[in-house]
Amino acid sequence: MKLEPAAALVGHVAVPGDKSISHRAVLLGALADGETRVRGFGRSADTEATVRAMRTLGVPVDDVADDELLVHGVGLRGLAGAAAHVSPCAVGVGTHAHLVDCGNAGTLMRLLAGVLAGQPSRFELTGDESLRVRPMERIAEPLRRMGAVVETDDGHAPLLIEGGRALHGIDYTLPVASAQVKSAVLLAGLNADRPTTVVEPAPTRDHTELMLEAAGVRVRRRPTSVTVEPAATLELGEVAVPGDFSSAAPLLAAAALVPGSDVTVHELGLNPRRTGLLDVLERMGARVAVYNRRRAGREHLGDVQVQHAQLVATEVGPDEVPLLVDELPLVALLASHARGETVVRGAAELRVKESDRIEAVTDGLQACGVRIHSRPDGWTVKGVPSRLRGGSVDARGDHRIAMLAAVAGLASREGVEIEGAETVAISFPGFFDLLESVTRR
Ligand code: S3P
Repeated sequence: MKLEPAAALVGHVAVPGDKSISHRAVLLGALADGETRVRGFGRSADTEATVRAMRTLGVPVDDVADDELLVHGVGLRGLAGAAAHVSPCAVGVGTHAHLVDCGNAGTLMRLLAGVLAGQPSRFELTGDESLRVRPMERIAEPLRRMGAVVETDDGHAPLLIEGGRALHGIDYTLPVASAQVKSAVLLAGLNADRPTTVVEPAPTRDHTELMLEAAGVRVRRRPTSVTVEPAATLELGEVAVPGDFSSAAPLLAAAALVPGSDVTVHELGLNPRRTGLLDVLERMGARVAVYNRRRAGREHLGDVQVQHAQLVATEVGPDEVPLLVDELPLVALLASHARGETVVRGAAELRVKESDRIEAVTDGLQACGVRIHSRPDGWTVKGVPSRLRGGSVDARGDHRIAMLAAVAGLASREGVEIEGAETVAISFPGFFDLLESVTRR
């Protein structure tokens, strides 16, 4: 697929429901007592993997509409009950386990491991080639400290989880800022014998804590730590999922980059631990406005308008990284059009995402004529206040890299050829259609 240069991006749009919140709504809905209606569900390959996983474990999930689900909860320790399938297990000889394929979804694998540690059965979690090289010891280690039996394959999936052990609440300091690891520990903590506390090196997205609180769990949230108490039951009733900030981010970045642009994304999730890109855009001189700030349950949302302006370089450091971790590739592209040198530091986590995003971004943008160099933990980008040349970018099977390449194409002089553009379906199947709907040529 080739993305040709845009004259401008103009319009009002909405994006599908937040992927992080959609995963959590299905998982917690499955553990709840009674029905949970998920409105604004963000349907994508990743979130469908979570629905499939819950069905495999015996949880009925009705597809009410493309963006609405009804999850029939089986209770906090009811997964893998009578309706679940048991498959011969590839890990242990002569043993059986509930086999769950997590596809490309790291969030699913890590959060589910925390959930299953407290379930009275045996489970094997696997995934696609990309997921099977991502680090899993980071969840196995704290879960073992809690008393769970979790085996990895040299630190990777497939994971074997022997549930049914008595879990103990722990105080755990995360070695890396990761909402997925935090969530895995907190979810295991629901079935523990005493409160579980997770301390973070820097604040990460708190969707799990907010939804647990909504489900009636006693949660104490502090700026860089959170404690959950063991729970007897969860009750959600309804989850209203706001638009996915990370899906809107490519459109907002494109609007900031292409002269004459003016884009508004409505009903967008604005959890303060997700919107670091708005602060970076403002620092770089883009014109950003937020209207109609409101709440959907405990989550914030609003309408976000971005208009083009000449950008200037900035710096992004370790404390800010978790607030825009999935948007950092777009920051590198924004920096290529900004006067001066931009440095992104403290983002080594990008090397263990769906691809090594530090190298994927460096190679992809260099191939388009950008002066970018990788650092062990980020990039240095020398910006010029004119359109980049264009070229060819390999998405490396990574949805965020495909979206980055698309935005680069719109902002370029000669267009950008994307190899593996279809990978956007991992998080946002309608991405190219939505982008096209606001693009003027
Ligand atoms: C996510 C957390 C982040 C993020 C991922 C989704 C989540 O990962 O990159 O896309 O839903 O909790 P880490 O927790 O590994 O940083």
